Amino acid sequence: MDNNDLYLTYHGLLLPKISHSVESISYFEKFEFKDDDVIAVTYPKSGTTWIQEILPPILNGGDLTPVLTIPNWDRVPWLEETRAALNMDKLSSPRAFVSHMPYHLMPRSFFSSKAKVIYIARNPKDVMVSSYHFHQMASFLHDPGTFENFVDSFLAGQVMFGKWTDHVKSWRNSNLGDGILYVTYEELIEDLHGVVERIAGFLGRQLSEESLKRVTEHAEFKNMKDNTMSNYSLVPVEVMDKNKTHFLRKGIAGDWKNHFSAELEVKCNASISEELQGIDVKFPWDKKLNK
Ligand code: A3P
Repeated sequence: MDNNDLYLTYHGLLLPKISHSVESISYFEKFEFKDDDVIAVTYPKSGTTWIQEILPPILNGGDLTPVLTIPNWDRVPWLEETRAALNMDKLSSPRAFVSHMPYHLMPRSFFSSKAKVIYIARNPKDVMVSSYHFHQMASFLHDPGTFENFVDSFLAGQVMFGKWTDHVKSWRNSNLGDGILYVTYEELIEDLHGVVERIAGFLGRQLSEESLKRVTEHAEFKNMKDNTMSNYSLVPVEVMDKNKTHFLRKGIAGDWKNHFSAELEVKCNASISEELQGIDVKFPWDKKLNK
């Protein structure tokens, strides 16, 4: 299958047809945000599934029922995907969503609402590795070829949702003041409890230490891997081939070191540093994008 069969193009971004349609995008554009909505935004493979696990119990006082009974894609739906419209009526306020959209493509109502945003970024080299393996197991994405080929496509933005650097810049340059919380995947790895507490504080939720511990423990990689509602085991093997890799694959920071040659690393760092010039941000992996 070629790219035209697999993706639709929206403002230059490739969106997988399996989960996006002209209708879903129209629904997204016309979506009416409420002031108490929460939206977590990620570039794909940066921790979307993780935040889908963390948000519901933070918003409901520590109750794990939603994460144990509702698949992640319906529990905290992607606003731009086809399932959003199907599930919107079932969400109780405060509603939680995820999105992979860049800031400037958010629906008109977003810009006049007080909806809170959590933006999660991940070391782009680990995003590439995670995405490469995902492309190998997901029949609805293009064949990534060799890892070197895939890195080239990624740096050129010829992958779903375009360039990582454009995505990060768009949300870093947003004008949302204290309405946006920036978190990294690496911080989640380093101190899950601390980040869960920070997110709860940002959303104005007071969770008891016992609830915080329960939410944190439940969102640990090994426990999420066992949660049928979050590990994508409900998806047919023809769509995601678990014989190739698992959706919840390794769950670590720094796996890029097992995939990049020295030459590829230099090329990648140079490209990303150049594109990020001018944005005032220090990422945990910033020590020459190496950590
Ligand atoms: P890896 O492929 O590196 O393992 P997304 O949900 O945005 O598609 O991101 C998927 C990536 O997040 C995968 O990375 C997955 O394993 C990782 N992930 C999801 N939940 C996690 C958790 N609880 N702990 C660590 N990593 C997690």
